[in-house]
Amino acid sequence: MVTRMSKSIENLKEAFAGESQANRRYLAFSQKAEKEGYMQVAKLFRAAAEAETIHALNHLKIGGEIKTTTENLSTAVSGETFEFKEMYPQYVKTARQEENKQASWSFDVASKVEKIHAGFFKKAEEALKKNKDLNDVSYYVCKVCGNTVENAPPETCSICGAPKREFFEVT
Ligand SMILES: [Fe+2]
Ligand SMILES: [Fe+2]
Repeated sequence: MVTRMSKSIENLKEAFAGESQANRRYLAFSQKAEKEGYMQVAKLFRAAAEAETIHALNHLKIGGEIKTTTENLSTAVSGETFEFKEMYPQYVKTARQEENKQASWSFDVASKVEKIHAGFFKKAEEALKKNKDLNDVSYYVCKVCGNTVENAPPETCSICGAPKREFFEVT
């Protein structure tokens, strides 16, 4: 028997992707508007970005893609692993062939960080197997490359070389 995703489930996935992108695009546009001195336009972009997030989350929930944390961690490990093992290495290779250094950098740092994320999510899976939450740690993220570090920010980012001040704590 051929099973086929209903068109609406497919549309929910598509719309989730589109709304998620619109959210980040509008936040970036908002920052640009601020730099150009258009503070009210910046606010409008932020308002629309918030609304797009609500749409994205509605689509995701109704599409049945939010499961138990155990299942969600497994989804996260698979996604991160695909990205650092298959997707990004291929993208880096192509960027190098095309001599697009910035794209190559962007893919390379993302790939390295996704590997770190996969490791953290695996650690969380292990904790949940023992019916425990993760130990209480702090997380610091590099504003330049997204490097994600436990406990304390490093003197310099091991992935992009940014100084400690570029790290912010996630609460
Ligand atoms: Fe990641
Ligand atoms: Fe970094």
